Amino acid sequence: MVLLTGGAGYIGSHTLLELVSSGFEVLIVDDLSNSSLKIIESLESITKKSIAFEKVDITNQSDLDRIFSKYDINSVIHFAAKKAVGESVENPLKYYHNNVTGLISLLSCCEKHRVKNFVFSSSCTIYGSPKTSPVTEDFEIQIAASPYGNTKQIGEEIISDFANSIEFNYLNLRYFNPIGAHESGLLGDNPEGKPNNLLPYITRVANKELDELTVFGDDYDTHDGTCVRDYIHVIDIAKAHVSALELLLKNKKINDKVNAINLGTGKGYTVLDLINTFEKVTNIKVNYKIGPRRSGDVPAIYADASLAKNILNWEAKLNLEAMLQSAWNFELKKKK
Ligand code: NAD
Ligand code: WQD
Repeated sequence: MVLLTGGAGYIGSHTLLELVSSGFEVLIVDDLSNSSLKIIESLESITKKSIAFEKVDITNQSDLDRIFSKYDINSVIHFAAKKAVGESVENPLKYYHNNVTGLISLLSCCEKHRVKNFVFSSSCTIYGSPKTSPVTEDFEIQIAASPYGNTKQIGEEIISDFANSIEFNYLNLRYFNPIGAHESGLLGDNPEGKPNNLLPYITRVANKELDELTVFGDDYDTHDGTCVRDYIHVIDIAKAHVSALELLLKNKKINDKVNAINLGTGKGYTVLDLINTFEKVTNIKVNYKIGPRRSGDVPAIYADASLAKNILNWEAKLNLEAMLQSAWNFELKKKK
């Protein structure tokens, strides 16, 4: 059975669907701090199966240990983390506690229960502001720009040290900018309050939940002056987890060769590219103004995704139009 920590969240829930349709037995452990039971119900309605779910905070090691005793777990995909960059600056200890203590507690359970296959949700944030793109996995890891980013760097280091001490088969998947939603419209990125991320902000302005988007700066050295990112469909991200897990389960020597893989499309789009494509796809105007730069923003970053192709035999298939259409579909369904 595959344990998905944070499996009720945005990326975890989409990954669960891909795992189930590939025949994996799955268990979700989530404290619902950034998700809800409604997601479990949606997963059951989409898969037409009952989904094993335990409401547990993974930082509570004794609670987590009970779950490892109760279920026959042979691999873990570790999504559970707090992810709001700004909040992590205001409340760093909350982030170190949740993301780092949570990881240590989880690895301790893996050690005790001899679970040896592990996939970690890492992030392109660990590359900081690269001088050039595309970025390959051997690019220098820069001093983290936020406590959140630091928890991902520390997380990768902890897993590496742990795997040096014991037989442990793992992959750090470094996501670029996951966006989009499941075709059912039942799952998607649905942050509480004002979104920090670009696409949920755009969809809420488009449906008039918010008045206006501020584009953070148009004086960067890019084709239209706004920042470049590698937006990738969450369904493609989810499928990459299935490939990663299958590889870990069949290839015990993976970590001699590689331990981190970028998950991106390899293409960069600006903020204005996103707005223009969204307007074209949906036929709805996005009310926006140009504002000052957001502090800490990386001017441009996109992935070299060739390692994922070579090692996982995976590449992103869905284009920007599909990402934006699916996010809009989710927004419309959400309103009802
Ligand atoms: P999310 O907030 O939607 O999902 C995370 C889930 O983990 C939530 O359901 C939350 O309730 C749960 N959780 C948090 N702390 C927990 C704890 N202590 N115990 C149990 N459950 C807990 O976030 P997401 O976008 O799905 O991100 C998943 C992972 O991917 C995170 O590790 C995140 O840092 C990483 N990541 C996300 C992005 C992105 O842009 N969404 C990019 C790079 C990396
Ligand atoms: C994208 C672009 C903004 C909002 C974040 C995390 C990073 C990683 C991915 C987890 C930028 C611009 C945004 C708005 C805007 N997550 N923007 N107006 O900054 O690439 O990265 O998600 O690991 O750690 O920091 O994503 O969606 O916030 O921004 O103009 O209201 O949209 O300036 O250029 P980002 P984002």
